[in-house]
Amino acid sequence: MAEFVRLHEVGPRDGLQNEPRAIPVAQKVALIDLLATSGLRDIEVGSFVSPKWVPQMADTDRVMAALAPAPDVRFAVLVPNMTGWEAFLAARVPGVHYEIAVFISASEGFSQNNLNCSIAQSVARLAPVVEAARAEDLRLRGYISCVTDCPFDGPTLPERVADAAALLRAIAPMPLSLGDTIGKGTPQRVAAMLEAVMQVVPVSDLAGHFHDTGGQALANIDVALDLGLRAFDSAVGGLGGCPYAPGAPGNVATEAVLELLDRRGFDTGIDATVIAKAAQMARGMR
Ligand code: HMG
Ligand code: MG
Repeated sequence: MAEFVRLHEVGPRDGLQNEPRAIPVAQKVALIDLLATSGLRDIEVGSFVSPKWVPQMADTDRVMAALAPAPDVRFAVLVPNMTGWEAFLAARVPGVHYEIAVFISASEGFSQNNLNCSIAQSVARLAPVVEAARAEDLRLRGYISCVTDCPFDGPTLPERVADAAALLRAIAPMPLSLGDTIGKGTPQRVAAMLEAVMQVVPVSDLAGHFHDTGGQALANIDVALDLGLRAFDSAVGGLGGCPYAPGAPGNVATEAVLELLDRRGFDTGIDATVIAKAAQMARGMR
């Protein structure tokens, strides 16, 4: 039997958050509803962050309220602090499965620019969010950004990523998604980073999150598969961009990852024809 690889669809959040024009709630909901029929089990639908920092995600509560029931799907949202947690609580719909995604950086420069605080401060700020989510029996996921390169600090040492992973998992033993935020990683450097992180986190708890800015995302997924990772994040239609590289490709495209996994003989439970339709819809939103 083919081995299973889990894909986390991040297009509606990581992809759309970069789009400068206001995208109507109905369009976001139509995309997520379609994705929810594809066999995907995890879809990130928004974030409860400051609307001044990321205006495109300011409607996450309205998106959540309008989604069609999808009993087999877990909807993930990013929560950076207790203000975001309170907003999530006010917006959640009874009976829906949610995942709370918390995020830190492996580099100090990105932490300051993305979260307005140091890595240590960001972890301290997340501790009560994690505690609250656990009290509600919600699934947690931790993101670590800049796992190979930081737009402010340059290359990230693999040990710094392992340190960040250990810090986050000291709060709670959550699965982690390792983000090549600016898509500069190469297979060799990704492998070195993964080997360092695997010293402190079991590989079954790791996902790869590759942006395709440098055109290396699929090669990086290949090497991560070789090292035993069986979960990846991707965005339908390759949604997303990079604020530091105008016009650059966004997150690795879900349809391209599906093709790669199919070629390598992995099973995902995802219907590529539905993803192709969603990709077309997503491209129309850029
Ligand atoms: P801050 O300004 O330091 O926060 O922002 P503060 O606590 O000093 O509060 C300032 C104001 O923001 C206050 O309002 C708060 O109420 C408000 P005021 O009194 O001025 O009117 N505020 C909030 N409003 C709504 N929701 C909240 C919230 N918190 C405070 N949760 C903060 C700190 C974290 C909020 C800010 O830095 C922020 O929102 N950053 C956004 C970060 C973000 O969403 N980045 C993109 C996602 S991460 C990513 O894409 C990487 C990833 O894909 C993996 C990878 O690729 O590497 C995950
Ligand atoms: Mg990302």
